[in-house]
Formats: sequence, C-alpha cells, structure tokens
Amino acid sequence: MDIIESVREMKRIAAAAREAGRRISFVPTMGFLHEGHASLMREGRRRGDLLVVSIFVNPTQFGAGEDFEAYPRDLARDTAVALESGADVLFVPKASEMYPAGFQTWVNVETVSLPMCGASRPGHFRGVTTVVAKLFNIVRPTAALFGEKDYQQLAVIRRMVADLDMEVEVVGMPTVREADGLALSSRNSYLSPDERRSALCLSRALAAACARYRTGERSVARLREEVMAIILKEPKADIDYVEFRDGDTLEEVENADGRTVLALAVRIGRTRLIDNTMIGRGFTWNERC
Ligand code: PAF
Repeated sequence: MDIIESVREMKRIAAAAREAGRRISFVPTMGFLHEGHASLMREGRRRGDLLVVSIFVNPTQFGAGEDFEAYPRDLARDTAVALESGADVLFVPKASEMYPAGFQTWVNVETVSLPMCGASRPGHFRGVTTVVAKLFNIVRPTAALFGEKDYQQLAVIRRMVADLDMEVEVVGMPTVREADGLALSSRNSYLSPDERRSALCLSRALAAACARYRTGERSVARLREEVMAIILKEPKADIDYVEFRDGDTLEEVENADGRTVLALAVRIGRTRLIDNTMIGRGFTWNERC
C-alpha cells in the first residue's frame, strides 16, 4: 500500500490507473478507522481494481467550538486497518494543500443540507461537499463509498453528484453496529463506560419505533412520542433532533411509510451521536423488528 501526501502525486497515480482501464474505488474518511470504514473498504475492493482511501480531518466541516482539535487521530493504526482491508493507496493530504492561501470556492447543496444536522451545525455540509468535491476531482473515482449512518451526508452527496454531473457512482453501505446495537462511530471513543451504556438509548429508540411501525402505527406524532420517551428516560441524554423524513428529499412527513427515514441526533454528555433507520425496512441488527 502506498501512502501519498501530495495532491499532484495522487492525481498522477489515479490518472495512470484510469488510462490502464482500471476502475478506481474511493473511500473518503476522517480517519480513526473502525469496522464501519473497513466494510466500505472491503466493498470498494470488490467493486474496483484500485482502492484509494483518504484520511483528512477536514477543518471546514467543523464549526467554532466543535471538536476539530480533539477529533481522534491515529495514523499508525489507520494504516494497519487500511492495509488489512485491501487499500492500495492511502491518501493523507495536508490542510495546507487542500486549502492553500487564497482558497475561496465552496460547493453548497441547498435544501437537503438545511434541516437536521444542517440546522444544528450551520456550515457543516458546505465543508463536507466542498472537500468531497475536491477529493473526487483529485481521485476521479469510478465509485465512492459512504456509510448510511451519516444518512443526511449521503443524501447531500448524492444531490451534489447529480446536480454537478459528476461521473462517480455513490454507494451507500449499511451501518455497522456493536453487538449491543451501538452504531460504530469514531466519536464513540469520547464516551466513558457509563455514557456508552446511555448511548444505547439511540438504537433502542430506533428498534422500538420500527416495532411500532410493524404493528401498523403510521402517525409520526405518535412514533416520535415513543422515540422521545425512550431517549428521555436516559438522564445523560439530551435530544438534538428526532426527525421522520422522506428518505430521498429529506422533506418532513406526517405519516410514515416505506420511504421514511427516522433520524436521531442525541448528546450523551458532551458527545453528539447520530443514528438512523429506514422505518419500513426494520431495524437491521440482532434485535430485528
Ligand atoms: O464522513 C466523513 O468521514 C467525512 O464527512 C467525509 C465524507 C470524509 C468528508 O470529510
């Protein structure tokens, strides 16, 4: 596996691969890789001839007072995970190359970026779409893989790719969970053992809502009540949002159906966690409903 820091070198390797007719799979990450990232890499490996993984803690998607400085970083461990998961190239650009002096161009997806995490974290998705567009221009992948845990991010990136005629297939991959239901996230490393136990209220709430849906409940007001009651029982939990939205457009819905995504953002102590499920698909974990 090659570890590449320079944008120019990354472009050269990608261009040579394309010229040789090789399909490039791309997994963009911010590092501190876990099994969720590894599942994206394995799928990327399966779909392409050259697997490129990037690690870049992107400063422009963090707001003032957010955890940019504290965001967990461990390049040695990440290198081992990427290698084991089949990466050919690990691209680790420097912020000074991604955002050189004079940088002033932004990619902004409008409506889909506004609610949910977009409302709680103004400017976040502008940072995400800008860096992902840059990475796509550098790597020019055939396919790029993202986790469904960041459901809104995936919807925003799909919109950007469609609107800007980008020639990349965006592949969404199922959320990977711990045995007890907690969705894997690099930010789980912030949780104390007690907080980690409290964090299970997210997956418990999703599972309960799916179970209610399965018994015929369609009213979002009643489903939301159930979700909120489960989370509010947890003293360490502070709800940011509980949203029922159309899975593609992210417009609010009043009655749930097979296209509805239930998305949560909850603070456990100082850690903000997100999770979601397509309510009609059931909760795909060991406590299936
Ligand atoms: O999901 C992430 O890790 C980041 O938002 C991404 C897509 C790598 C952009 O910085």
